[in-house]
Amino acid sequence: MAKRLLEIRSLDVHYGDAHVLFDVDLHVDEGAIVSLVGANGAGKSTLLKAVSGLVAPTDGEIRFRDRSIVGMAAQEIVGIGISHVPEGRGLFAQMTVLENLELGAYPSRQRPRMGESLARVFGLFPRLDERRGQKAGSLSGGEQQMLAIGRAMMANPSLLILDEPSLGLSPIIVRTMFELVRTLNEQGMTILLVEQNIHQALQVAHHAYVLQTGHVVMQGSGPVLLEDPTVRKAYIGSLA
Ligand SMILES: Nc1ncnc2c1ncn2[C@@H]1O[C@H](COP(=O)(O)OP(=O)(O)O)[C@@H](O)[C@H]1O
Ligand SMILES: [Mg+2]
Repeated sequence: MAKRLLEIRSLDVHYGDAHVLFDVDLHVDEGAIVSLVGANGAGKSTLLKAVSGLVAPTDGEIRFRDRSIVGMAAQEIVGIGISHVPEGRGLFAQMTVLENLELGAYPSRQRPRMGESLARVFGLFPRLDERRGQKAGSLSGGEQQMLAIGRAMMANPSLLILDEPSLGLSPIIVRTMFELVRTLNEQGMTILLVEQNIHQALQVAHHAYVLQTGHVVMQGSGPVLLEDPTVRKAYIGSLA
């Protein structure tokens, strides 16, 4: 049986008085691509932020490699192997590609391996290598997303969390992005993917969850959910 890398149990999150995640259970097995899909405002980013220590849950448990990570500082969570590529990418536009990548290697145990990590990222993204001296803000949307993912890879994560990587990209670049997700996974990376682009997110996923106003309303294998009439009607039908 696959090893459980991430396990979320009965998670609740509030922003002040606003209750946004309700009793959420979710798990990610080692080697899997798990997609979390749902409408805008459903709580997808909030769930990812809870995992990476950017918001504090009000109840429930989050375990990574069977160790509780609730209450750990965000940098500490990066240090134990969880890298989060935020919605909107969070790049430093005035800094170069190389400088942005170097920032991704800030966990102290990664610094001695910087050269090795850079070589790996540039191998994966030759375009970033060609543009290593360019300012991040001058890159195309697709290149910026690659840079954001490359920066996350600099910390040598064992779980990569991607928040809407396809947002704002043209259809052809969206396809490239999903191919990249698959390639990273084939190379051994475990991925937790959040998407509004439900069709492709379900296609690529081994397992998927549907989040609706803070509740997990459905889960199953990606391809099975893709064929589910309720999912089709609620999400895909409306987008077709
Ligand atoms: N920092 C915040 N403070 C207060 N409310 C927030 C904050 N961030 C998100 N929300 C609210 O929480 C809900 C879930 O948001 P979010 O997790 O961003 O959803 P999604 O990523 O699925 O679009 C929304 O109603 C949103 O308005
Ligand atoms: Mg979001």
